[in-house]
Amino acid sequence: MTVTIVGSQLGDEGKGGAVDLFGEAADVVVRYQGGDNAGHTVVFGDETYKLSLLPSGVVRGTTGVIGNGCVVNPETLFDELDALRERGLDPDLCVAERAHVIMPYHKVLDGIEEADRDDNEVGTTGRGIGPTYEDKAGRRGVRIGDLLDPEVLRTRLEYVVPQKRALAEEVFGVDAGDAFDVEAIFETYRAFGERLAEEGLTVDAGAYLQDRIDDGDELMFEGAQGTLIDIDHGNYPFVTSSNPSAGAACTGSGLGPTVVGDGDVVGIVKGYLTRVGNGPLPTELAGVDGQTPDYDSDAVDSDDPEEELATYIRDEGGEYGTVTGRPRRVGWLDLPMLRHAARVSSFTGIVVGHVDVLAGLEEVKIGTSYRLDGEQVDTVPPTTEAWARCEVEYETFDGWPEVDWDSVVADGYEALPENARTYLEYVADELAVDLYAVGVGPGREETVVLENPLE
Ligand code: IMP
Repeated sequence: MTVTIVGSQLGDEGKGGAVDLFGEAADVVVRYQGGDNAGHTVVFGDETYKLSLLPSGVVRGTTGVIGNGCVVNPETLFDELDALRERGLDPDLCVAERAHVIMPYHKVLDGIEEADRDDNEVGTTGRGIGPTYEDKAGRRGVRIGDLLDPEVLRTRLEYVVPQKRALAEEVFGVDAGDAFDVEAIFETYRAFGERLAEEGLTVDAGAYLQDRIDDGDELMFEGAQGTLIDIDHGNYPFVTSSNPSAGAACTGSGLGPTVVGDGDVVGIVKGYLTRVGNGPLPTELAGVDGQTPDYDSDAVDSDDPEEELATYIRDEGGEYGTVTGRPRRVGWLDLPMLRHAARVSSFTGIVVGHVDVLAGLEEVKIGTSYRLDGEQVDTVPPTTEAWARCEVEYETFDGWPEVDWDSVVADGYEALPENARTYLEYVADELAVDLYAVGVGPGREETVVLENPLE
C-alpha cells in the first residue's frame, strides 16, 4: 500500500507534519521532486528538525529515498546527514542514481537569471533548482550516477561547463569564476562521488522500491512545494521547475500510476493561504513589500485592519520562510485553488492544518469562487494573467475561540470548537473528499486524526 502527500496550495502547507504523522506506519518515505528548496520542519518530541532535502521520515528511522525526480545538491545532502548524525540519529538514506545534481554554476545562474528578470522575478530560493532542471531537459545534466565514475564525470563537465561559462560571460556579461571551472568542479564532485560510494548511498531507486513493495513494505511519497507552483499546473512562470502534484510520484520514483493510484493521495491544506515570492494571490490580505505585485508599503496606513490581520496571522503562524527567512504573503483559504489541486492529484482526502492560528478571530473567510470578466469561475484559470484578474467571492464563517488544543487532541474531532468543524466540513464537502486529520499545532502530536491512510 502507498500514500502520497501533496501540497494543495503554494508550498509551506505544513506537509512535514503530515508526512511525519502518517509516515509512522510507512517503511519507506520517497521524495519524488524538488531539491533543497523544500524546507520541511519536523517537530519530534522536544526536538525540531529543519530539513530541506532529506525526506522527513529519516528523523524517525524510516528509510528515506531521494527519487530520480529530485535534484540533489551533494553539499546539502552531506550537511543534513552529518547534522542528524551529530544529534545522535542514524539516518537510513539512499539516493537515486538517476537524480540530477545541482552544480555550482546552477546556483550562480539562478541568481543571474533572477536579477535579469527585473520586476518580474520569480523569487526563487536561489538554490539552483530551475537551472538544474533546465539542463536535465536539455540533456546536458550531470546525474548522481555520473559522480561515481570519474571518467564519465569529466566527459559530462567538459561538454557542459564551457556552454555555461559562455552563457554567464557572453549573454549575461558577468565574470564566471570557479563555479564555471572544469577542474575545480571535477575535484569537488569526484570527492562527493567517492563519499556516496563509500557510504553505499546510491541506488537504482525504482528497482529498489519495487523490491520493497514485493517484500510487503508500505511506501509514502512525499511531495515538496505545492500544486500552484507546479511547473505544469501552477501559475507559470511563478513556479518551481518540477511537478509537486501526484503524477510526479510515478515519474519521479520509477514506479507506475497503478502503484500510486492504488493508495491514498492526501492534499495538505493550510487553513489560510501563504505565498513566498511574486505572482497573483487573489485572496491576499494586505501585501508584502518586494513580493506582492504593485504593493507600495509607503502608501499603506499601518492601522489598516487588513494589514493588522495579515500581520497577526503571519506572526501567529510563524509565516517566515524556512529556507530564506522571508515574510510570507498571507490570504484567506481559496476554494477554486483547492478544487484545481484536488483534480490534478486525485485527492482521496485532505489534512487541514493551522486551525489554531485562526482561533480568536471574530470571523474567518473562504474564497468560494471567482468572477472573471463577468463570469463565475470555480477553479483556477489556465493563464496567470487571467488568475490575476479574478475577483473573489467569499463566504464568511463565525470564528472559533482559542481552546486547550492538547485536550482537543486527546478527546478527538468532536472536541474541536463547533465553528471550526463547520469550517472544515464545508471545505471537505466542497472538494468531495474525506477529512483525514486536523492540525492544531506544529508538532505531529498536535493533530486530530480521523483516518490514517496506512493503518
Ligand atoms: P525555486 O524552486 O527555488 O526555483 O523557486 C521557484 C518558486 O517556488 C519561488 O516562488 C519560490 O518561492 C517557490 N518555492 C520553492 N520552494 C518552495 C517551498 O518549499 N515552499 C514555498 N515556495 C517554494
